Amino acid sequence: VAGGFRLTPMDALVLIGHGSPLAGANRDMLRVAAALTRRDRPVSTCTVDRAEPDLPGLVAAHAAAGARRVVVVPWLLQLGRHLVEDIPRAVAAARTAAPGVQVVQADPLGFDELLVQLVERRIAGALDAAPAVGPPVVHLVGAGPGDPGMVTVRARELVATCDCLIHDRLVPPELLALAPSTAVLHPVGKHGWGEAVAQAAINELLVACAGRHRRVVRLKGGDPLVFGRAGEEIDALAATGIAVEIVPGVTSGLGAAAALGLPLTRRGTASSLAFATGRCHDDGAGPDWRAIAQVDTVILYMAARNLAAHCAALVAAGRSGGTPACAVQWATRPEQRTVVGTLADLAKQVAAAGLGSPLLVIVGAAAGNRTCPPP
Ligand SMILES: C[S@@+](CC[C@H](N)C(=O)[O-])C[C@H]1O[C@@H](n2cnc3c(N)ncnc32)[C@H](O)[C@@H]1O
Repeated sequence: VAGGFRLTPMDALVLIGHGSPLAGANRDMLRVAAALTRRDRPVSTCTVDRAEPDLPGLVAAHAAAGARRVVVVPWLLQLGRHLVEDIPRAVAAARTAAPGVQVVQADPLGFDELLVQLVERRIAGALDAAPAVGPPVVHLVGAGPGDPGMVTVRARELVATCDCLIHDRLVPPELLALAPSTAVLHPVGKHGWGEAVAQAAINELLVACAGRHRRVVRLKGGDPLVFGRAGEEIDALAATGIAVEIVPGVTSGLGAAAALGLPLTRRGTASSLAFATGRCHDDGAGPDWRAIAQVDTVILYMAARNLAAHCAALVAAGRSGGTPACAVQWATRPEQRTVVGTLADLAKQVAAAGLGSPLLVIVGAAAGNRTCPPP
């Protein structure tokens, strides 16, 4: 019998591969056929590109041995001429050659979800077995202002392939959803002034994760180097010899300006720009409001709390109360809300409108300078 396989009077199987003149080219298919035969199934093999043995001949041999049904399984063939023309033609010829036998063509293996899962398992296994290359790295990644479309290609790639993700509160949920289901997620977000996880604990977590996982991503809202306490995390990692890759993101101040159509600089009226915050340092010292007030366009981060005091501080430092100012909550997200006013009345307006954290304030001629309507 073709292929040397023992046939029993049961349903039979024919694996049909591509075929190649190269010696041993179909060894994988022959091995699978041998394994199936050991399970007492009559199995034989043939190929599309080689004349012997041919499918009608094999089916006739199975029929002669008592098979009433023969299942023809295309062996790892992709959709193409063989699958849609050659094999169906050979199956039709087999039906003619063995009229008493039901000949069925199975779906190609290559289309099966199980095969995809098997390939994924193999990839994971290969990665697990791979020796660690170089020192550990933590990827410090900016997640952009909130709109998932404003995320860099590198950020998406890192999140989609990480095995450990330590993330803040203000990262787009759509980006988190890209993390593999096998990745370990650590939400360490701070909400306003309340610290969900103390910075020292986050630093320790980063170091511990870098030792345990292959690809650790530290994901922060906006840009990681803008008001993100990145310096403390980089110091903690560097102190233990862990390298850091920094992937910038669109900082929320720039996202807000884009969302509102505000040019932050303009020839003749605004030639300097500051990212600032009114939040105090750990020692209680406030920012240098005099220096900040000198800048044409000021973007204030973490502006929800003490907004009235911060606006008053800018006025006390020399800025006119009539300076245009606007506040934006959830910039670039569908829930974005905006209030436009002046330094003198913005805090009142924000309170009346009920805007809260996360809130940015843009101060200067730019804030009253909306140039393009949103799409
Ligand atoms: C701890 S800082 C982090 C800033 C961030 N690294 C960045 O580059 O945008 C958090 C502050 O960023 C601002 N912020 C972040 N995302 C925002 C958004 N979508 N809308 C308004 N403000 C936002 C708020 O002022 C918030 O209090």
